[in-house]
Amino acid sequence: MRISVIGCGYLGAVHAASMAELGHEVTGIDVDPAKIQALQAAQAPFFEPGLTDILESAMASGRLSFSTNIADAKGAQVHFVAVGTPQKKGENAADLTYVDAAIDALIPQLGVSDLVVGKSTVPVGTAERLAEKIEAGSGATLAWNPEFLREGFAVKDTISPDRLVYGLPAGEKGKKAKQLLDEVYATALSNDTPVVATDYATSELVKVSANAFLATKISFINAMAEIAEVAGADVTALADAIGYDARIGRRFLNAGVGFGGGCLPKDIRGFAARAEELGRGESIRFLLEIDKINMRRRERMVEMVIEALGGQVYKKKVAVLGLAFKPDSDDVRDSPALDVAVRLNGLGAHVIATDPEAIPNSIRLHPQLGFATDTMDALNHADAVVLVTEWKEYRNLDPVEVGKLVRDKIIIDGRNVLDPVQWRAAGWIYKGMGRP
Ligand code: UGA
Repeated sequence: MRISVIGCGYLGAVHAASMAELGHEVTGIDVDPAKIQALQAAQAPFFEPGLTDILESAMASGRLSFSTNIADAKGAQVHFVAVGTPQKKGENAADLTYVDAAIDALIPQLGVSDLVVGKSTVPVGTAERLAEKIEAGSGATLAWNPEFLREGFAVKDTISPDRLVYGLPAGEKGKKAKQLLDEVYATALSNDTPVVATDYATSELVKVSANAFLATKISFINAMAEIAEVAGADVTALADAIGYDARIGRRFLNAGVGFGGGCLPKDIRGFAARAEELGRGESIRFLLEIDKINMRRRERMVEMVIEALGGQVYKKKVAVLGLAFKPDSDDVRDSPALDVAVRLNGLGAHVIATDPEAIPNSIRLHPQLGFATDTMDALNHADAVVLVTEWKEYRNLDPVEVGKLVRDKIIIDGRNVLDPVQWRAAGWIYKGMGRP
């Protein structure tokens, strides 16, 4: 099929390359010339495992091209809209400027039998509004097809999704839209991927409620960590024990410095704001509490560093291991790790932060921090070590070897991924979050 993908950020670039990998003929379009130039050279504009490989193979096959010109979307049968919906400045609601701009630019390129497919995360009610605009401007149809990819696994999640959700209009238009989507996702469907075909509003809500549930799970266990801290209990053992109950499940029950990234934080805020607009604010006002629990963990982490350093961090060298919001990503949007580094720096600590991939993005936002590309340089003569993103290389650090580099053997494990027994045996003061 001929496909266009409007917006080539984390979502769009991966989607465009994956669709070409699946055999479709794809044009990726973005207003950012630097991004398009990189993609045209088969270079991923951000770190995402596997993306460069599929960009290279798809570009070589001739099935994938990129452009800054929206007119290049003309002639495609299916147009995916994958632009960002960030949080509005100073408000909880989502900013739909880019979605509206993309749709407005796309409409003149559309034919009556074209299908526009929204992938961006939007407040419920958006698809209905956009469908009217598209219908009036071109006669084309809109479907909503939310994306559930995780950064770090984005290629796998796009090529082999765990489910497909189609938000469709009623009647004949909906049937045709479903046929086209089934054709786009033929490979996944041949592998028995479940499909939930539903209306626009449900599909929009599926996306935000999935992220709200995940955020709630993380803040739930972090709330237990807060209690464990005062009760002298161990939240990791607690998570293991409740996780054995299949109804609860162990995944997304890792307590620590909390969630960040370009999705969970802004999506729960946007969802809460939308519920207020719909007159049902009370139904999900607890999400604001989930947000607060999450933000408190960052403060707690900083407090723990201060306590461990005997009451103040001023002029103390603190090695911060990790800047990305999670491992296998260079994304520092709303990253708890970067936030902790910035807070410690603000208190006068001599922060040396490191990360395998996220240093360039961190420097752009916070040039005031100290950075080291080599983990060993960051650790050298440190008064305390803070692990905030659980990259494999940090999880595998040898406490004996690291002990030879630092000034003081103090480690605060903001992700509860190190073995306290092993670190303490090597002479370290080990502190986890929600662990005695
Ligand atoms: C999230 C969802 O997991 C995806 O399904 C969704 O498609 C995506 O948002 C999106 O809306 O686009 P992602 O932002 O890539 O994906 O990251 P997650 O893997 O969900 O992790 C989010 C944050 O939670 C990270 O900071 C991570 O460190 C933290 N986390 C995760 C915990 O603190 N504890 C856990 O047990 C799990």
